[in-house]
Amino acid sequence: MAITNYVKTAEFATEKHVPVITAPDTVKAGERVVIELEVGKEIAHPNTVEHHISWIKLYYVEEGTQLPYEVARLEFNVHGEAPTGANEGPVHAEAAGVVTASFKKSGRLIATSYCNIHGLWESEKNIVVEG
Ligand code: FE2
Repeated sequence: MAITNYVKTAEFATEKHVPVITAPDTVKAGERVVIELEVGKEIAHPNTVEHHISWIKLYYVEEGTQLPYEVARLEFNVHGEAPTGANEGPVHAEAAGVVTASFKKSGRLIATSYCNIHGLWESEKNIVVEG
């Protein structure tokens, strides 16, 4: 089966794995748009060596097409590792970040996230580009 059969989605208010996309509904063509991406926005996801979010990727699909462009990828590479033991480290990367992009044509943002023990999750948000 294709990988798409294993990508899960849900309402972020009730499911902690969903990558939440925060962006304007409507933008002007060519203007800089700040897009916030976060897993665990409503319900915190664990952030430990054993259980964490490894990455979030952002794609864009122009309206009326089937071609996803990869816009950005955010990697979260430290979750409490330390020589003294797992989860004793001084730093944890949080599963959140900001991407800045500009758009010429309307389409759909699609975010995917990966939990090391709960797999792939997805969410979407349409953007209308004016002018
Ligand atoms: Fe998880």
